[in-house]
Amino acid sequence: MKEIVLLASGSGSNVENIINYFKGHEKIKISCVLTNNSNAKVITRCQRLQVPLLYFNRDAFSKSDTVLKLLQSLNPSLIVLAGFLWKIPENWVPAFPNQIINIHPALLPKYGGKGMYGMHVHKAVRANKEKESGITIHYVNEHYDEGVVIFQAKTQIAEIDSIEVIAKKVHELEYKHFPRVIEKLLTDHG
Ligand code: GAR
Repeated sequence: MKEIVLLASGSGSNVENIINYFKGHEKIKISCVLTNNSNAKVITRCQRLQVPLLYFNRDAFSKSDTVLKLLQSLNPSLIVLAGFLWKIPENWVPAFPNQIINIHPALLPKYGGKGMYGMHVHKAVRANKEKESGITIHYVNEHYDEGVVIFQAKTQIAEIDSIEVIAKKVHELEYKHFPRVIEKLLTDHG
């Protein structure tokens, strides 16, 4: 069985979608969800879905190796950032080579980097009158949103689309593609 650890900071609708996708899967299992936000909606989702959830603070995450050591003991095949907003500590990258992936709600390299997350991305896309946006799934390296791209999908934006409509279109792409990309990564590697 290949195991996945999910990291999330907020609502966790992608976490819920991924958990549901892999429910009963014969080769892939969600071992647990980690969050850095003790008020995140992802916590109640995990309780309802009966998936183990652990909370960590900044000290455990980047001022010590507590979370890294926890991950090493869990030994997942893949660490999936699904709406996780802290920058991954540099020593995680060599510890999990090509085993940490992130989803970004835009077509990187556009609209990436520090401060570009969630609705901030869609606001910037709207302000620049972009005709399209989309999702990028990429490996995580030492820099925000700069690792090798694994997958992108696009959606068209109409002039009348509000920021909320853009967010909805992008979320729909995430729900459709993210679990399948994860599945492909884990099954293609044997
Ligand atoms: C998702 O749209 C994800 O792409 C984005 O946060 C949202 C989380 O939604 N991630 C980033 O912006 C990372 N820079 P969710 O909590 O409902 O899954």
